[in-house]
Amino acid sequence: MYYLFLLLFPVLVFGNSDFITASEYAAQLYKNPRGIGCQLCHGEHGEGKLIAKYKHKGKQRSFRAPRIDNVAFASFFEALNSRKNGMPRYYLTQEEIEALYLYLHPQYEKR
Ligand code: HEC
Repeated sequence: MYYLFLLLFPVLVFGNSDFITASEYAAQLYKNPRGIGCQLCHGEHGEGKLIAKYKHKGKQRSFRAPRIDNVAFASFFEALNSRKNGMPRYYLTQEEIEALYLYLHPQYEKR
């Protein structure tokens, strides 16, 4: 079923049907980017999130994912194509990265 969906995806997104809009596509990609969903760490809209609190050598520490709704495209692209501490490695295409970027930075949306 999942694979069928992937096969149909280009048709749904780029075909002549308006079954799913570009922003719906991006919202789905954000939550299911062929790996753990971005929202689990960065929050529903990329506002950043506290992932865990822990003690290290008796000191209270916290592990946070930064906000990613105010990042320059170059850093965004770079972050998704490099090894980041605490963040899984994704293998997203240029188009997918652009879709995610626009989803998190709707002010740049092409009209
Ligand atoms: C397991 C938690 C986790 C998940 C899931 C995750 N990230 Fe991250 N991400 C992080 C952490 C932690 C950092 C900070 C890494 C650092 O400072 O080196 C980060 C950094 C980033 C940055 C760099 C921010 C900056 O200011 O330079 C971007 C962009 C980013 N993540 C985007 C994403 C996107 C898009 C997804 C989904 C495809 C995602 N992340 C999924 C934890 C996560």
